[in-house]
This record gives sequence, structure tokens and C-alpha cells, in this order.
Amino acid sequence: MEVIIRPTTEQAVNLTARLIADAIKAKPDFKLGLATGATMEAVYADLVKMNKAGEVDFSRVITFNLDEYIGLPPEDPNSYRYYMNHNLFDHINIDKRNTHLPNGMADDETAEGERYESAIRDCGGIDLQLLGIGSDGHIGFNEPISSLASRTRAKALTPATYVQNSIYFNPPESMPKRAFTMGVGTILNSKRIVMLITGAKKAGIAAKAIEGPVTSMVTGSAIQLHPNVVVVLDQAAAAGLTQTEYYNWVFANEPEWAQYR
Ligand code: GLP
Repeated sequence: MEVIIRPTTEQAVNLTARLIADAIKAKPDFKLGLATGATMEAVYADLVKMNKAGEVDFSRVITFNLDEYIGLPPEDPNSYRYYMNHNLFDHINIDKRNTHLPNGMADDETAEGERYESAIRDCGGIDLQLLGIGSDGHIGFNEPISSLASRTRAKALTPATYVQNSIYFNPPESMPKRAFTMGVGTILNSKRIVMLITGAKKAGIAAKAIEGPVTSMVTGSAIQLHPNVVVVLDQAAAAGLTQTEYYNWVFANEPEWAQYR
């Protein structure tokens, strides 16, 4: 794992967007795993800018989102399909037929999980999975005690997630209590993981995921099991880390980071 700490949120976001754009430049038919949440909005805004400036081409990119609320149709402003269209897909040269999310309206939940897994498998797997982290440590919607071997399935959301996310719903009680999510095992099968964590509120959970024990109580800690992970943080989110000096040395000295310094 590599941990990159940038002084500001804007710099952390921009570095994350550049990592994604550079990976797409190197492989135009890139399979990109995407995340939602407030943290990612700025990443998508940067990618839109880069696309409009002709710096990155999405015409052959295929995307898979981590998750979707159960019971929300695509046109619902709180669905993750709506979020993705609104924040990214409507503004870049991607073919929407190449953009995938679980179908929150699927009748057969088991079949929907299997369909999503096969779709990922059939296109050769995800090259890079973008991740945020929830206040309870979840990645996707893999809530505490989710199996670290789990695959795409329906998952009940915790009260902590309900508190974090229901502020976007009007009324807040209309937030679904369940969601489809890629499993931790699905996420760990991607070839590379880039996790972005910003803001002082996430400092505690960031330290647990990066430096704490691997535990299903903080599914974000499962990234420690993956051989190719970069976690990008702003200074505020990095406040609880103990090995900061080491992380900063790596970023300042290792050649692979030269172009991002
Ligand atoms: C939701 C998503 C997660 C995301 C989390 C963090 O719960 N399912 O994938 O990491 O939100 O959201 P925010 O960036 O708003 O803190």
C-alpha cells in the first residue's frame, strides 16, 4: 500500500483524478470501477475538465459502480445512477451503454448480484477501482461484519450509514434501508485500488482502515490484503496516521511519484 498525503483537499482530489486519467491514457479500453458520495463529486468535476480539455478520452472506457440503493429507479435524484449521470456521464464522451450499476429495481436480488458479477467477469475484470470510505468504515455498502470474501449482493445498511446519507433525502426517512453492493471480494479482485479520503471527520476511520487490524468490522481495512493500493488523503484526513514521515518520504523520493509532485 502507498499512502499519499496532500496539503489540501483540492490537491488530493486532483491527484486522484490524474491517477485515473493517466491509467485511461495508457489503456483506452479501461475498465473503471466508480464510487459515489460527496467526496467523489470533485474528482468527477476534475475528470470532466480533463475530458473537455482533450486530456482524457472516455469513448472506449467501461465503468462499473460499486453500489445502488434498492427501490430507487434510475430517474430518482437520490439514485446512484442519477448521481453518476449528473456528476460525470452526462458531461464526458462516454457511451452510456458502457456504464454499469446494479439495478436497484431488480425483482430477483440473488439473480441481480450474479448478473453484475458476470458482467464484470465477462469484460475481463476491473482495472482500477476508485473507493471512498463511509463513516463506519464501509467500502461500497459493505457494512461492518460483511464477509471479506463477499460478492455483489443486497445488504442492509447500518444506522451510522443512515445518519450519514439520509441528509440527502427529502424527507430523510425516505432513504432506502438496503442496497446492492459489490462485495469486498469483488473489490479485492480489481487490479488496482485508489482510495480517496478527505476531511477531518474521516481521520479516525482512515487511521483504522490504513494502519489498524484487518477486520470485517471496518471493511475498508480489507484494502491491506490487496497488492496494488494507493490511498490519497488530504492533511485533515491524515491527522490520525502514525507513519506520516515514511509516507511523505516515499512520495517525495520514489520515482513513480515524480510526475505527481
Ligand atoms: C456512500 C457510498 C460509499 C462512499 C460513502 C462515503 O455510503 N456507498 O461508496 O464511500 O458514501 O461518502 P462521502 O464521500 O459522502 O463521505
